[in-house]
Amino acid sequence: MSQLLLLRGGRPLSGEVTVQGAKNSVLPILAATLLAKGQVVLRGCPRLRDVDASVRILRALGCDARWEGEDLAVDTAALDRCEISDLLMREMRSSAIFLGAILARCGRADLSYPGGCELGPRPIDLHLSGLRELGAEIREEGGFLHCRAAKLRGREILLRMPSVGATENLMLAACGAEGTTVITNAAREPEVVDLQNFLNACGARVSGAGSSAVAVEGGQVLHGCVYRVLPDRIAAATYLCAAASAGGDIYLRGIEERYLATVTAALRAAGCDIRRDQAGLSARCAGRLRAIGPVQTAPYPGFPTDAQAVLMAALLRSQGATVFEENIFENRYRHVGELTRMGAEIRVSGRVAVVTGVERLHGAPVRCTDLRGGAALCVAALAAEGETRITQICHIDRGYEDIARDLRALGADAERAEQTENDS
Ligand code: UD1
Repeated sequence: MSQLLLLRGGRPLSGEVTVQGAKNSVLPILAATLLAKGQVVLRGCPRLRDVDASVRILRALGCDARWEGEDLAVDTAALDRCEISDLLMREMRSSAIFLGAILARCGRADLSYPGGCELGPRPIDLHLSGLRELGAEIREEGGFLHCRAAKLRGREILLRMPSVGATENLMLAACGAEGTTVITNAAREPEVVDLQNFLNACGARVSGAGSSAVAVEGGQVLHGCVYRVLPDRIAAATYLCAAASAGGDIYLRGIEERYLATVTAALRAAGCDIRRDQAGLSARCAGRLRAIGPVQTAPYPGFPTDAQAVLMAALLRSQGATVFEENIFENRYRHVGELTRMGAEIRVSGRVAVVTGVERLHGAPVRCTDLRGGAALCVAALAAEGETRITQICHIDRGYEDIARDLRALGADAERAEQTENDS
């Protein structure tokens, strides 16, 4: 039987959590382990459904991946395959990131097209055109991608838009290319920097990540390393929004404010007192928040699309109206219908959503539509009177180790429970 989340709202939070490792760092890093000769140990690797999917892909390729307490040890020496089955590809939408790494390691890769996802179409044309520019021949046939590259050659690649996944995929392929690759209009996300740091810890020569030009001197022989992944700025944003929603006083250990400065700025504008110290961030929030100026999602360092839903949830009981503009994904308001069931007042028109604060929210049976939309339901439930039953939590498990555990540590009444016949 599936599980659900049971939250009883209406009480202020109080407590502390250590922020988990970043999902969006660890996934490309797991693909990057294919380039290293020798064992990689990822310290404090978050136990996520998407990490499990990556581990299954590594094992299907013949590699060894083992949990050692909170660490994940990966040894790719025994890799003996360079294809990924359709079943495994479909488990995780970001599995395309394996393409560049397998190609660099084996000179060929066969995998199925990752396809669309909950957020709308998820094209990988930038990944493919960049790999072609590095010398790969790619045939697209019946949903499958057949890639061959006897030799990859470094060169300058200009991305049409700063895609995170394409930047990372090309960084991995470029490590196996002869000569220097420069990716311009590269994504500047902290997780791209983390991938660069990991690759360099293995002996690669990557520079410029965090700016819009990333340079990779290919052809180095990479070795294993011990590496701790970056803390998850979106998990941190989620818990700050939880405190903003329910009120209270919380402390998040291990997160640096500079990675989520647009989120903390929005929460401060709404009336939360957020402070940083050496070890993390504290948030103190009381009473109804204020509506804030327009929230426009944009590539980093702009406001992250992944934090749009949780901030929207935090503002449901604010005084006034806040305008959201989603500029990254086409279909990123699917949580709105579920929030409305809890008494929220939100109007959506295309890319724009307008949240008008209401005085009260009430618990309701709701369903996760996607990862961050699911987290937003938790944030709203903490401010709602009564009990909220959240189903389809497999979406949340993709990106949060144990959201009920963390919310309880922050003083919330939250638990996982078995679904009954009455839950849909
Ligand atoms: C990554 C994150 C995801 C986040 C997103 C945007 C990971 C594992 N996931 O996803 O959590 O929401 O960045 O910050 O890191 N696009 C194309 N062609 C391409 C590639 C992308 O048109 O070949 C478009 C996408 O449709 C989207 C935009 O570019 O509209 C940004 O996507 P991208 O930055 O690639 O996101 P992901 O890497 O998939």
